[in-house]
Amino acid sequence: MKQATARACSNIAFIKYWGNRDETLKIPMNSSISMNLDGIYTETHVRWDDALASDELVLNHQKVTGQALHRVSEHLSFIRNRLNINTFAYVESVNNFPMGAGIASSASSFAALTVAAVKATGADLTERELTSIARLGSGSASRSIPSGFVIWHQGHDHTSSYAESFAQPDYWDLVDVIAIISGEHKAVGSRMGHTSANTSDLQMARVNGAEERLRICQQAIFDRDFSTFADVVEYDSNLMHAVMMTSRPPLFYWLPTTLTVMDAVRHWRSEGVQVCYTLDAGPNVHCICTRPYADVVAQSLRAIAGVNDVRMATVGGGAQLIK
Ligand code: PMV
Repeated sequence: MKQATARACSNIAFIKYWGNRDETLKIPMNSSISMNLDGIYTETHVRWDDALASDELVLNHQKVTGQALHRVSEHLSFIRNRLNINTFAYVESVNNFPMGAGIASSASSFAALTVAAVKATGADLTERELTSIARLGSGSASRSIPSGFVIWHQGHDHTSSYAESFAQPDYWDLVDVIAIISGEHKAVGSRMGHTSANTSDLQMARVNGAEERLRICQQAIFDRDFSTFADVVEYDSNLMHAVMMTSRPPLFYWLPTTLTVMDAVRHWRSEGVQVCYTLDAGPNVHCICTRPYADVVAQSLRAIAGVNDVRMATVGGGAQLIK
């Protein structure tokens, strides 16, 4: 029986991916940088099975059909073509964080699915190729395969668009303290959002400066220079949300509490706390801080009305096979 189980962490981007040059291949408009989130992961088991008449998906212990199965099946078909597999697969996937907690699962899901599905065939692909394949499922999934701090090079075609680690998890003791403001499913997910990014007049400006911001961000990580890091990370997140808000139709992901938290984070930093914020396509605020400040940031976030929950993650390792 050809089967394997893999685990992959979610990740949070410091320089964001928003918009594609090529929608089908998910060649992004710009390169991006992220850190993996330790302890926030998806575990996926894949079995290629001659007895199956179609792909099957069990997600968080429930059999799933429709759109979710279609997306997984599409991804498996690419792997089937690439590795000359003629059978369907049984896929069982579990997130260790509650769905609807407002933590995006597509990055960890497609990273774990890619590693499990490929390894189950017995094929020995390089990490680089695994990241390119994961990218086809969800762009940010490419960044959940390598370990620690990761860069996804935009590239110009399937093989040149890949992710790699540039620093291991222990290089810098950062913690993502996530203020969960809403667990509701977003009306417009990132998949749709990418397609409307260039309807905003601001997208070109965001993209034109992305390479320079990425250089500054990566250097700040190498230097463990929190002040430069905070500046560029908040700026890049604000730029992406400005694009979202000015896309047609506009995408407003922030809620009133989101702004309250962003304001509090800036205030805490002005008082000497090493913390900055970044947001994905949702209202929850990722407060990135250095280890000594993590507990006080978490405590202060819990005291804000409208913050429903707080989760913490240190820098995580890469996707791996498990028994
Ligand atoms: O990989 P996707 O299609 O879920 O896009 C991720 C988009 C953001 O989370 C908003 C930014 C990023 O770089 O992760």
